Amino acid sequence: MLPKIDPDRLWRHQREMDGIGATTGGGVHRLALGEADIEAHRRLADWALARGWRVGLDDIGNMFLRREGSDPALPAVAAGSHTDSQPMGGRFDGMFGVLAALEALETIDDAGIETRHPLEVAVWNNEEGPRFTPACMGSATYAGGQPLDRMRAQTDADGTPMGACVDRLKAALPEAAHRPLGAPFAAFVEAHIEQGTTLEENGKIIGVVTGMQGYRRFRVEVTGEDAHSGTTPRARRKDAFVTATQMAVALHGAFLDEADTMRFTIGRFEVEPGGISVVPGKVRFVIDMRHPSAEALKTEGDRVAAICAAHRGPCEVAVDNYSSAEPMEFPEAIRARLEAAAEARGYPQMRCYSGAGHDARHIARLNPAGMIFIPCWRGISHNETESAEKDHCAAAAQVIADVLIELDGQS
Ligand code: GLV
Ligand code: MN
Ligand code: MN
Repeated sequence: MLPKIDPDRLWRHQREMDGIGATTGGGVHRLALGEADIEAHRRLADWALARGWRVGLDDIGNMFLRREGSDPALPAVAAGSHTDSQPMGGRFDGMFGVLAALEALETIDDAGIETRHPLEVAVWNNEEGPRFTPACMGSATYAGGQPLDRMRAQTDADGTPMGACVDRLKAALPEAAHRPLGAPFAAFVEAHIEQGTTLEENGKIIGVVTGMQGYRRFRVEVTGEDAHSGTTPRARRKDAFVTATQMAVALHGAFLDEADTMRFTIGRFEVEPGGISVVPGKVRFVIDMRHPSAEALKTEGDRVAAICAAHRGPCEVAVDNYSSAEPMEFPEAIRARLEAAAEARGYPQMRCYSGAGHDARHIARLNPAGMIFIPCWRGISHNETESAEKDHCAAAAQVIADVLIELDGQS
């Protein structure tokens, strides 16, 4: 008999975490390894240590809460997600997956089940990416997809390097043992809110994720010339704002597809020097382009630089495709296992595709990995009003617990 998770404990943990970095609008502002995020890590570590589990930390700031198994030679069976949020983000994106994994391990612990493999909650660092680029830095570096030195040297807007933040996290977690990067797990599963409306529209509470669309991200830098706004005639202006807005409109038009498959976003647009009476000489903006087809990402993404150049007017423009990921599919064996676990519990479920990016994408390079989604209200996410139901969170934690036990038993 598989043990039942405790929905009240899971919800209590969620409520406690909601308070760390809480915003007045009901969300959280918990940027990667800022004060609130470090406090969240500390709280999770305390819960693990209270049960006699171990805490591990690697050089890029991924944290692992570990319940030992009976065979020390075996790799861990793991579940988890991330604790960091978008600026003024939602309470469930990431944190819910970490707490579902924790609830699964606590349930197994309370039931006195001795597993052969160690079980772990993985807390991937900097999944979101607004403070330090690129997103999914922790899981990608762990899986060998990003170089450790370069990632530790990435700085935030204040010039603080990620490496210094990881050292801060280490200092806050003196009990944590050093963990090497790159060690494969026996398997990894991640629970997450859907951040879309498929489950809600279909009346399902578990989504077994088939795969994830790919993305390309571009930094665009438009350089004109700072000038006096009161005295400089139009003919002498190199107004980077005017040029950049024309580029943005042209790009949006160019990537409007009839089927609405392409996801094209300019989510950051910075104008410098920002003086009210200065014609701006510099604009930096960032493009996030996502699509399920690798071919479409290649051909459409390759048009970005040319479209920008065609609209540069009197300014210079530089385009840097600084981060990319191919569309991916999770292995069928894990998808079927997650599906069977949801089925056995009687949860209404369906398969669905992920428009968002997640850490499991990177961990899937090392070992079998999979994901489940639960609905979130109206699909709203990366927003303070993001919300999910207690029962749905509990269902996901139950599926994770059941699957961890099964994965432990299979090999
Ligand atoms: C993850 O938060 C993403 O941006 O897809
Ligand atoms: Mn997330
Ligand atoms: Mn997110």
